[in-house]
Amino acid sequence: MRQTPETGPRHVAFIMDGNGRWAEKRGRPRLLGHRAGAKRVREIVEACPELGVEYVTIFAFSTENWKRTQTEVAGLMSLFRRYIQTEAQTLLEQGTRVRFIGDRLRLDAKLRSLMDGIEALTAHNTRCHLTIALNYGGRDEVARATKRLARDVAAGRLDPESVDDNTLPRYLDTHVLPDPDLVIRTSGEARISNFLLWQSAYSEYEFVDTLWPDFTRGHFEEILGRFGHRDRRFGGVKA
Ligand code: FPP
Repeated sequence: MRQTPETGPRHVAFIMDGNGRWAEKRGRPRLLGHRAGAKRVREIVEACPELGVEYVTIFAFSTENWKRTQTEVAGLMSLFRRYIQTEAQTLLEQGTRVRFIGDRLRLDAKLRSLMDGIEALTAHNTRCHLTIALNYGGRDEVARATKRLARDVAAGRLDPESVDDNTLPRYLDTHVLPDPDLVIRTSGEARISNFLLWQSAYSEYEFVDTLWPDFTRGHFEEILGRFGHRDRRFGGVKA
């Protein structure tokens, strides 16, 4: 089932929640849930271009996730490294361009170099755009953007009187991406959790009970089907 540009979301963002609970339900370590989650990442990312979704953004690691145990953080970092290494060729061949958003400075050098590598490798792809939010927090992103904006004002490159609601987005990590049309959060929690705060001002939200490692292409197609029936007014009235 392919969405048409008129009815389907162009940009879908995912808060992939529930990996830990998925593992705990089975009496297994949380990392096993993250591994199962990584398999779903592959399935959903591959499905996107086939379903007419041009941009997909996934929340892989938040600025708050450092509070988890050292074992879990190290396991997740190793999973991200492995994902980039094993998926690079497939993503290249699928026509998917990979980007990262978030503050890279706290990530280790090996991971950062893999991130740079896959971004460069896929830079000419245009069929689908995968953005991975890694050490990402919406407030942190706005703070970093504001710092850059303030520097431009201080250096005389930006007139403060010209600042309007189109200015800040140019400084955000997502400056080359359209805003998400749809944000999907799995696992039954109905929270934004500091994800794409500025960009999701007019996004539609879907909160589904399914845990991320159980979230299949079928669930995704069902949500995309519902999206076509939504009446998006962006603060205006029905035409
Ligand atoms: C939230 O579930 C999930 C995360 C913090 C990590 C998301 C990571 C993946 C899906 C792994 C693979 C990602 C890539 C890009 C390869 P949780 O641990 O908070 O679950 P819980 O709420 O049930 O504890």
